[in-house]
Amino acid sequence: MGSTGWLPGVSAISYGGDYNPEQWPEETWAEDIELMRQAGVNLVSIGIFSWALIEPRRGEYDFGWMDRLFELLHSAGIRISLGTPTASPPAWFFHEHPEARVVSRDGATLGFGSRGMASPSSAAYREASTSIARVLAKRYGSHPALAVWHVHNEYGAPVAECYSPASAAAFRGWLRERYESLDELNSAWGTAFWGQRYHEWEHVSVPAVSASVVNPAQRLDFARYSSDALLQCFVAERDAIRAECPNVPITTNFMAGTCPSVDLWKWVDEVDIVANDHYLIAEDPRNQVGLALSADLTRSIAQGKPWMLMEHSTSGVNWQPRNVAKRSGELARNSFSHLGRGADAVMFFQWRASRSGAEKFHSAMLPHAGTSSRVWSEVRSLGQGLRGLDEVLGSEVRAEVAILWDWESFWAQDLEWRPSEDLSHRERINAYYDRLWRDQLTVDFAHPEADLSAYKLVVAPASYLLTQKAADNLRRFVEGGGTLVVSYFSAIVDEHDAVHAGGFVAPLRDVLGLTVEEFLPLRAGEKVALTLDGIVGDVWTDDIALAGAEVVAAFEDGPAAGKPAITRNQLGDGSAWYVSTRLDADQLSVVLDGAYADAGLKRGDGPEDLELVRRHGAGADYLIAINHGTKPADLAAGGTDLLSGEQGESLKVEAGGVRLVRLNGPAV
Ligand code: GLA
Repeated sequence: MGSTGWLPGVSAISYGGDYNPEQWPEETWAEDIELMRQAGVNLVSIGIFSWALIEPRRGEYDFGWMDRLFELLHSAGIRISLGTPTASPPAWFFHEHPEARVVSRDGATLGFGSRGMASPSSAAYREASTSIARVLAKRYGSHPALAVWHVHNEYGAPVAECYSPASAAAFRGWLRERYESLDELNSAWGTAFWGQRYHEWEHVSVPAVSASVVNPAQRLDFARYSSDALLQCFVAERDAIRAECPNVPITTNFMAGTCPSVDLWKWVDEVDIVANDHYLIAEDPRNQVGLALSADLTRSIAQGKPWMLMEHSTSGVNWQPRNVAKRSGELARNSFSHLGRGADAVMFFQWRASRSGAEKFHSAMLPHAGTSSRVWSEVRSLGQGLRGLDEVLGSEVRAEVAILWDWESFWAQDLEWRPSEDLSHRERINAYYDRLWRDQLTVDFAHPEADLSAYKLVVAPASYLLTQKAADNLRRFVEGGGTLVVSYFSAIVDEHDAVHAGGFVAPLRDVLGLTVEEFLPLRAGEKVALTLDGIVGDVWTDDIALAGAEVVAAFEDGPAAGKPAITRNQLGDGSAWYVSTRLDADQLSVVLDGAYADAGLKRGDGPEDLELVRRHGAGADYLIAINHGTKPADLAAGGTDLLSGEQGESLKVEAGGVRLVRLNGPAV
């Protein structure tokens, strides 16, 4: 991340949302401002989809309405997150440059009337998007209301890949840089297979739909290239802005944990502040766990620094199969979970519900029902609650556990013709994360090649692609006293999706003290019993040959009957566990309790649905307690609840309630 720190001039938790006043007559704006004041709104994102209004024809600008909006917000003391409108180029742009449209994998050219339709590799789009960014920076870059730049919107959504001729040319350029010679490329892609050897660079292209499965190494490189192409678009806009406006931080709204196509480990070095959007899986009755995962992942991408929750929803969204509304108190629980996990800004999509367009059924801070509604009163009371939290700003979250997270591995695993369609990296990550969440252990996410020395326990639920460098990193971690837990179908391939020389798990063989000789996936619905009371796996088993590990549990039946199911290997000062079948979050305790003991970690002893996170400040520590259960819970820590002002040695958290407690005693 860049060095500009937090939003300049902001010393309170930011609160607000996307504000699209261009959808309303200007008479409404005064009412908006008055209601924002009532709700405690102090930051809004504007201009995200306003290109067609700001530049109605190429090179012709109309800033009148935006100038007036800037002044109105400024006079109300509301700061501005200024969007560059490049997620939605105007109709004139596509009319002039039909070649700039996205081409999908099956060859369809995407039409106008939506958003996100421009190819990241189009030179015309690059030129037009940097130009509008520059023009905006010139006009508003020194305005005192400007707090942050919000470049584009959700890179990677709705489409992350483009198969146009311009993309094919750019992909070739990217490959030439990566491999330098065709021989290197042929070797990395294993083109001897199915007669694909290339003799001319011009013959190399994008992995469009073909007769059968397309070369997996080519597809993996195309996923890398596509993420990089989007990043280049961001960097180009950022640099155009920075040249005019060097002192205002520049960010873009990520979708950590929900958009699989962008490798955010690479992006973080290019943004000044990390910002994230998160939407609940509405139908999941325990969706607070997925929310916590996304927030922890965002904080990890932000390298532990405070981050902005740029968007979430006050109630239902409009784009899921069933847009279940949030129930009373859920808006606050969600917001404080993000805040507890490091967010110093709590923002929504959007301020006022749209009457027209594709998102008219999406909830908003000010819903169609207006100020008499439940949602509005919860929005106001959240704003009031956040007002008393200035001292929390900048405090940080610490974790002793890390889960390995690598987009490249996920891209590779998601390709076709895997040993079982029931293998899902995300399902495994969710299950292990859920277990840790219920055990009230705060989790970071880490790239497998990152420095892991701060952690006592590292969990690898889904490391299908694991480089030799990452394996060496894990070995060092274990030898140095760390505890490692590795799930099945890990360390199978290298960075080119080629099976490791030496076979499955080869780079971790000495760490785990075993080898996997053959995959033994299970039939749909088939279950296998383990030699531990009541423990049953499904989806997967391995034929394991031990090479030093001890057997914690074996399979009682199924194709691997009599073979190891869960193992533990001592290496140096640490230990490494291997789990060769799918256990659900309940059953994972049989592995993780052992790993906690090895790591010297203690799981929380509160009720399972009491979410507890700590933020550490310069002068005090804060405990954020969110009760997702139906019974009140007592906190085992004394302090002052900054939301209610109550003090006590053991504060009660009501069912569905939230506490943010400044703990007694000095900061640790
Ligand atoms: C995304 C977008 C917003 C809006 C919301 C709706 O986060 O960034 O513009 O479409 O989804 O949930």
